[in-house]
Amino acid sequence: MAPEKTFYLETFGCQMNVHDSEKVVGTLISQGYRQVESVEEAGLVLYNTCSIRDKAEQKVFHRLADFRKLERQGKKFGVLGCVAQQEGEKIFDRAPHVSLVCGSASYRNLPEMLVQLEAGKRAAGLDDRQTTETFETEFTARSNPHRGYITIIEGCDKFCAFCVVPYTRGRERSRTSESILAEARQMAGSGYTEVQLLGQNVNSYHDPLKKKTFSELLAAVGEIAGLKRVRFTTSHPIDFTRDIVDAIDAVPALCDHVHLPVQSGSTRVLGAMQREYTRDDYLERIAWMKAARREISITTDIIVGFPGETEVEFEDTLSLLDAVCYDGTFSFKYSPRPNTPAQTMADSIPEEAKSRRLAILQEHQKEIQKHLSKRHLGQILEVMVEGTNPTRGQLIGRTSQNKTLNFTAAAGNPEPAPGSYVRVHVTASFPNSLLGEMVG
Ligand code: 5AD
Ligand code: SF4
Repeated sequence: MAPEKTFYLETFGCQMNVHDSEKVVGTLISQGYRQVESVEEAGLVLYNTCSIRDKAEQKVFHRLADFRKLERQGKKFGVLGCVAQQEGEKIFDRAPHVSLVCGSASYRNLPEMLVQLEAGKRAAGLDDRQTTETFETEFTARSNPHRGYITIIEGCDKFCAFCVVPYTRGRERSRTSESILAEARQMAGSGYTEVQLLGQNVNSYHDPLKKKTFSELLAAVGEIAGLKRVRFTTSHPIDFTRDIVDAIDAVPALCDHVHLPVQSGSTRVLGAMQREYTRDDYLERIAWMKAARREISITTDIIVGFPGETEVEFEDTLSLLDAVCYDGTFSFKYSPRPNTPAQTMADSIPEEAKSRRLAILQEHQKEIQKHLSKRHLGQILEVMVEGTNPTRGQLIGRTSQNKTLNFTAAAGNPEPAPGSYVRVHVTASFPNSLLGEMVG
């Protein structure tokens, strides 16, 4: 009998990577592999990697260095995802115990690459970034039985000056709306109540058969029987059109939350970042959302310390936080990335200044959230139950606005199971979460 084929997979990075890993796991299982929970048990050790900032990239090389000695035990190592695509076959030189290097645009060729590996050869999948095809597989091994991701568009053609993604994930390519809707219906049929549509620029979606616009696709997914919540991420402001807000207003299953990365509040910096919108363009999109009938929660991404960002330009970002009143922000220090236009600019803001700006920004935003979060006090909100926090004796729920609402179950009632929906009375508010008691 042939020895059992086992693999361990660790994932770094964004939701796109998390979902890619679900497809990779499904593909490996379809090829006769079994997933194991530790490196020690595995014959094949895979890392699905992120290179969005230098820190993320370095993590992978540290892991690989740590495990170098395990090669003697006959284990094979593979690097997948963004660092694989970015560094290519140089990874074989830097980490000679690696025998597979594969970018996300080549995952559909994984079965052939696995055969090569099993024959004791090295395999590389790095040549597919210009592909117009998307990776569709019937084998996706979703890790959560209640809410799941669906990729609707892969790659990115935006070429923001700081961003590595167009070089790691390749050309923008959309799936047909028919195929997306079929996958969403199939998920609803197998008990999913929440789906999240994914893309680096999800709202750049263009149906190759021209049957649906992005907002029509959102509405169509939102109308599938059984789906209670439909999310989408990440939206680019330049493609954020008013009909998306109209769809959220019209279709109750579309969640009242939009993640709209701004990156900077200064029009000059936005120009240098090649973002293709001004501060005012961005605020116009925010105004559409504020004018909606439903209260839409808004979150964003921000970079501080982009080359040449002055103190005054940084203050423009602080004043934008006040103007928008975000429900949450993800903020980062600028990190120069290989191949990007910004890499040719001097990384002019010293590390201490970047750290100081980041700390000021995060403190400023925390105060905004502390204040904003109070509006939920006394509200009754529906949550999807995500799990329990036994040390606190609480259940963990998520609202349609994507907020964490921790709560206690109603006395005498059975504890609601993960995946169920319950109504919760909000009794306390914090900058990053809410607290409440289940109703009825
Ligand atoms: N340095 C710092 N942050 C970055 N991001 C993307 N590229 C960089 C970079 N080179 C941030 C952006 C993006 C988020 C996913 O990561 O804010 O929206
Ligand atoms: Fe990281 Fe960007 Fe790649 Fe996602 S697409 S894994 S954030 S580099």
